[in-house]
Amino acid sequence: MGSLDSRKKNQVYDTSKSKALFEQIKKYEAGGVGSNDRLKVDPYPIFFAEGKGSRFRDVDGNEYIDYNLGFGPLLLGHSPDKLIEAANRQLQCGADYGAPFELEMKVAQKICEIIPCFELMRFNTTGTEAVQSALRAARAFTGKNKIIKFEGEYHGWVDNVTVSYIANTVDLLGPRENPTKLIFSKGVSPSVLQDVIIVPFNDLGAVEEAVKREGDQIAALLTEPIVSNAGIIPPRPGFLEGLRKITAENNIVLIFDEVVTGFRIALGGAQQHFGVTPDLSVFAKAVGNGMPISGFGGRADIMEEIVSQRVMHAGTYNSNPVSIAVADAALDLLSQDNGAVYRHITRLACRLQSGLEEIYRRNGIVCCTNRVEPLFGFFFTEGPVHEYRDTLSQDAEKIQRVRREMRMRGVYSKPTPRDVWYVSAAHTDQDIDITLEIAEEAVKAAG
Ligand SMILES: Cc1ncc(COP(=O)(O)O)c(C=O)c1O
Repeated sequence: MGSLDSRKKNQVYDTSKSKALFEQIKKYEAGGVGSNDRLKVDPYPIFFAEGKGSRFRDVDGNEYIDYNLGFGPLLLGHSPDKLIEAANRQLQCGADYGAPFELEMKVAQKICEIIPCFELMRFNTTGTEAVQSALRAARAFTGKNKIIKFEGEYHGWVDNVTVSYIANTVDLLGPRENPTKLIFSKGVSPSVLQDVIIVPFNDLGAVEEAVKREGDQIAALLTEPIVSNAGIIPPRPGFLEGLRKITAENNIVLIFDEVVTGFRIALGGAQQHFGVTPDLSVFAKAVGNGMPISGFGGRADIMEEIVSQRVMHAGTYNSNPVSIAVADAALDLLSQDNGAVYRHITRLACRLQSGLEEIYRRNGIVCCTNRVEPLFGFFFTEGPVHEYRDTLSQDAEKIQRVRREMRMRGVYSKPTPRDVWYVSAAHTDQDIDITLEIAEEAVKAAG
């Protein structure tokens, strides 16, 4: 049993109950987890019992500072009181109506007022669904089928967007000017490849080439404004503006996937931060602070495809009352004091980023780091990293080892080799102090 505030130097957690539970669950749930990335925790996933604020506790009673935040959503930390009250209140009045309700109107209005491109919106449950909804609207609106997607970007787990998400070596990606389209998962029909065009991120010339070649068939350019699933890769100055111009001139719908950046980089997302307004965008994670809620929206003329029902859009759990009630309370907290949450998380993220960088370098680790506002990650390579191919030269095993050693001492960050640190409104300076103390020990233990 480990408590962080009274931790002993180099104390390593005993996680034997997690290990036993993992052996048991595998007999019933395939692979022992609900989603593949949860298996990236080496040597076995940790089983958690409770979370509050910036910390959570596993079944062995060990306490962790959480920088994964449920793969991103918990921007306000675990179980904030105001969100518990909102969920409880709604549960007393019904968990689902299968029909519209007044709070749904209020939250849709709030979101339309916050997200710059939203003239009209619709709710979904997951980011994956909302991305597909936006793509369908874009295809219907333009009468075209293909999409441009950037190498290394993740937009959900379904067939048409799992192309060229991960490659183990640069060789697999093929020539930069004509990337090989890689199917990430067995079981995906190769027929999806015909409608996906892959280009490297941050390369306007490559986008221009693709549009010159196939623009009359391209319905949408889908991108995260900041790549967040290959580590953090910010857009070069002028890149998003260039995408905006090229797509506008060629009747291509520009879609920003703000599943990670939405409500996190700024209240109005990365589109507000960079001042570039897409035609459609998608949000999810942070607005529900852990409740399943997502949505998409944008230009009214494109969303008319939904209004008119020419595009089918459905979902039993869309605008679920409990998720909406929690989102309503979360939006109030995120909006208060003129951006106080954003100032807090960015200040702590800067402290954490520079503290980790100093420790890594002092211990002889070659690394570089990217950050936009509170969102940052490290690459164990010299850098700079401007596109996915740059990330593949990093020492992926070492970064995994370092973070494993941190996790064994109570610092839990995103378990994938693609390093991303999420900081919440509940994190404190004391959390950062403890994290840096543990990082120093972890780097030495990782060798
Ligand atoms: C940028 C991005 N888009 C889409 C998705 C898919 O969202 P979900 O897991 O809610 O389906 C994710 C999930 O991590 C994401 O990071």
